[in-house]
Amino acid sequence: MASDQKPEVVWHPHSVPRQQREQLKGHRGCLVWFTGLSGSGKSTLANAVDTRLNGLGVHTYVLDGDNIRQGLCATPEILGRSHASEHADRFGLTFDPMDREENIRRVGAAAQLLVDAGILTLSAFVSPYRKDRQLVREWIEAQGATGDFIEVYVDAPLAVCEQRDPKELYKKARAGEISNFTGISAPYEAPADPEIHVHTDKESPDQLADYIVRQLVERGVVPAA
Ligand code: ADX
Repeated sequence: MASDQKPEVVWHPHSVPRQQREQLKGHRGCLVWFTGLSGSGKSTLANAVDTRLNGLGVHTYVLDGDNIRQGLCATPEILGRSHASEHADRFGLTFDPMDREENIRRVGAAAQLLVDAGILTLSAFVSPYRKDRQLVREWIEAQGATGDFIEVYVDAPLAVCEQRDPKELYKKARAGEISNFTGISAPYEAPADPEIHVHTDKESPDQLADYIVRQLVERGVVPAA
């Protein structure tokens, strides 16, 4: 775009600002980002934390990879059920690196809206690439403040995740029926310095969910009960 040209889209400020929405709710909007291998326990933990926060009167919402990949970030196969194959191929997201990047970009953009609405948003995505997670962190912090993005590394050894294999995907990946499978045929870049680090092979989901909620209270994200 030449500098003398007007931009095609300009931001329209909301008449109700984020701060006003947060005052109404009694807490800040924020994004708690769970990352880890498939089968590490991200969804279980995000939902256990969600249940606890909901019980404390916090306005929350969970964005979960398995669900989001059926709608906002539908796979080409799912999109092909309602749209032409050309459309499904163009906009459907696979698990190759660029499609995962787009998955996390869309999720980050959706999370930005929820956080702007004052909602404590919990997300559970493999999100294996550090740079993709970092970009979401930067957007969330730029729209609010440092501390509005909390990375939770849901850590479990690959062997444990593979043994759990709740959806039998590791089995299929080992058999070569699924390509680009994180941990088997695609990389997972562990967070270098996550705000919260939990080991799901060492403690129960209940213990860890309690621990994460305590951490959120200590960080001032959630008002003390
Ligand atoms: S991400 O890498 O793009 O963040 P996302 O969290 O949305 O992944 O989806 C991961 C879920 O999709 C896994 O829990 C698993 O059930 C399923 N899945 C299917 N194929 C793959 C694959 N190749 N790699 C990882 N997960 C896969």
